[in-house]
Amino acid sequence: MTKQKVLVTGGAGYIGSHACVELLEAGFEVVVVDNLSNSKPESLARVQKITGKTLSFYQTDIRDHAALTDIFAKEAPDTVIHFAGLKAVGESCEQPLLYYHNNVYGTLVLVEVMTAANVKQLVFSSSATVYGESSSPQYSEHFPLGAINPYGRSKAMIEDILRDLSAADHKNQVQNPWKIALLRYFNPIGAHSSGLIGEDPNGIPNNLMPYIAQVAIGKLSQLSVFGDDYPTPDGTGIRDYIHVVDLVKGHLKAITALNGDKFKDGACNAYNLGAGRGYSVLEMVHAFERVTGKTINYKISPRRAGDLAECFANPELAWQELDWKVEKNLDDMVADTWHWQTLNPMGYV
Ligand code: NAD
Ligand code: UFG
Repeated sequence: MTKQKVLVTGGAGYIGSHACVELLEAGFEVVVVDNLSNSKPESLARVQKITGKTLSFYQTDIRDHAALTDIFAKEAPDTVIHFAGLKAVGESCEQPLLYYHNNVYGTLVLVEVMTAANVKQLVFSSSATVYGESSSPQYSEHFPLGAINPYGRSKAMIEDILRDLSAADHKNQVQNPWKIALLRYFNPIGAHSSGLIGEDPNGIPNNLMPYIAQVAIGKLSQLSVFGDDYPTPDGTGIRDYIHVVDLVKGHLKAITALNGDKFKDGACNAYNLGAGRGYSVLEMVHAFERVTGKTINYKISPRRAGDLAECFANPELAWQELDWKVEKNLDDMVADTWHWQTLNPMGYV
């Protein structure tokens, strides 16, 4: 088989850059399309340093129909992994139109261009945030959807659009039907073991792990633990943290599945990418202290609006249909976060 070419939207970002490393190391050709709205080109330089391989990069907004059409004509990719999107929940509540325009309209342009180019294999970055209220903290793919903020709704809308596309092909019995994997991430953390690429949040981090890392290195003075009165063993919120390298390996497994029997007549299937077990905020703090030898200064603060007490994946479908499971443990996640943070205290500068 000739080498497959994968076009990666948002490939300069946190998860996208790790995906580029795994793709290059697995022998794929890689084309990145990123407008650098939340990333720096240095991440791609580092990807090439880690792998000793080169990729093609276009600094382009996926909403630019004409530019994207030209890229597809020139590069003729076989598959697309679609990471490009805005992801800050709070910002999405302040600027919902920005989120719908960037995420939903951006995806519409992408799939229009893909249709015109007859490239119909897509792996999409969805999120556990698409799930609605549930009586169980362990989420399976068939659970009802019901995102509660504009960011989450943008992901849910995109999932709907992609399911409709696939259903229409099925109905019309087209020759080259859409093959789509919707990957619902739980909580990605960690960094590549080289310490050369990692998460580089703008300003004060919203998420727990980069916040803890910045307290440990002295950039921030104190972590606020949002609530210690949840109905969990230590009262703090529980999440399913997943190492970013495990997460991106799930994307390579998804590409293999799209090329296989399961998808041969076209389909659009959702898969949870999580470990299937949760850790509390205080367990994360204590793990960080244990692995790094640093003391994390923290205080208990009120609950953060919109947070669930507990949320973790049922990953069995991904085990069965993608042949994918997490391989790394909590200590790996903490050690790799810390390695990245200490080598790059100011991120990519
Ligand atoms: P990130 O911000 O680091 O990466 C996203 C990349 O997309 C950035 O490089 C940004 O410049 C680019 N981008 C944004 N809009 C674009 C546009 N219109 N055109 C071209 N490029 C554009 O974020 P990430 O953490 O790597 O997340 C990647 C994807 O995974 C996102 O879609 C996000 O919603 C999703 N996701 C992330 C998490 C998480 O916790 N990190 C959880 C669930 C889902
Ligand atoms: N937390 C704190 N203090 C902080 C930050 C977080 O106590 O400074 C707590 C939260 O209350 C929560 C846990 O740490 O209990 C994890 O919070 P994160 O913000 O790291 O992650 P979330 O589960 O809230 O959300 C993340 C992404 C979303 C995504 C979701 C599911 O931010 O975009 O995972 O994939 F949708």
